[in-house]
Amino acid sequence: MKRIVILISGRGSNMQVLLETKLDAQIVAVISNNPSARGLQFARSAGVETKLVNHRDYADRTSFDKALGDAIAAYSPDLIVLAGFMRILTEQFIKRFSGRILNIHPSLLPAFSGLDTHRRALDEGVKLHGCTVHFVTPALDHGPIVIQAAVPVLPDDDEERLAARVLQQEHVVYPQAIRWFLEGRLAIEGNHVRLSAAWRNPVPIISPLPK
Ligand code: GAR
Repeated sequence: MKRIVILISGRGSNMQVLLETKLDAQIVAVISNNPSARGLQFARSAGVETKLVNHRDYADRTSFDKALGDAIAAYSPDLIVLAGFMRILTEQFIKRFSGRILNIHPSLLPAFSGLDTHRRALDEGVKLHGCTVHFVTPALDHGPIVIQAAVPVLPDDDEERLAARVLQQEHVVYPQAIRWFLEGRLAIEGNHVRLSAAWRNPVPIISPLPK
């Protein structure tokens, strides 16, 4: 059975959904850089091994990433899932696990890479916002895209309402992307991901919806 390690920094709702989803894989560990990450408690109560690699215990990014990489490698994972993991990873780390790291980002990449995506989407007046699952490469938030979900931005949205609408879709697309990975259906070709699957009729998403 394939082995997954999940990395979190905080709440861990994506991790929680993955722990509650039937996957053809074992989630062998949840690792956090943050001792007070709320998700650690849930993982423990679900019987999953947890580990802390606190970035504050390391002098620089390189030594932290080396320790994090060693902690991950000890579990021999087939896949590393970043689920609200808020540290920028070094090129050495990413190369060490090349093609085996997925991330979820709360925007329709390449728009709004980085932080504060919901506030920036509201400031820009976009009508569609969303989330992206992508393979992690050294270019921050720019790896090959596996799947995206778009949601409308509504006139009375604030950051919290918009974030909640996006998060609901994160919980749908992340398990889907991981299932495809586990089934061996994702092929990385340059900056593209090819999905070996029959497409259902694609429907356009328009917001606001014309009457
Ligand atoms: C999610 O919205 C995820 O997309 C985002 O952090 C949140 C974590 O929530 N990730 C990033 O911003 C990565 N750059 P969760 O801890 O409840 O899964």
